[in-house]
Amino acid sequence: IKITIIDRDGVSHEIDAPTDMAMNLMEVVRSYELAPEGTIGVCGGMAMCASCQCYVLSNHELPEMQDDEEAMLSEAFDVKDNSRLGCQIQIAPEMNGLKIELAPES
Ligand code: FES
Repeated sequence: IKITIIDRDGVSHEIDAPTDMAMNLMEVVRSYELAPEGTIGVCGGMAMCASCQCYVLSNHELPEMQDDEEAMLSEAFDVKDNSRLGCQIQIAPEMNGLKIELAPES
């Protein structure tokens, strides 16, 4: 599926994300090196660091937030109404066309 990711410099990237590899958004950003090593995915995808925070810009219906994601976002910086933790969003076919922006490094 195609996903548009705006990096922390404001540059937009349209990338191909695999739906058959059980990858989450944070891992996709890392695999395309859209954020410097060590600035995203710090906790390894455990919803414990918020380094993978992103803003959802398109109207896609995404998996509902679980308690740990909600708790982490309640403590994170630069949180907006459309904030999600990328590591908690598994790539799925219905996300084709998804557009996200990486939150500033915190
Ligand atoms: Fe740490 Fe997502 S990688 S919260």
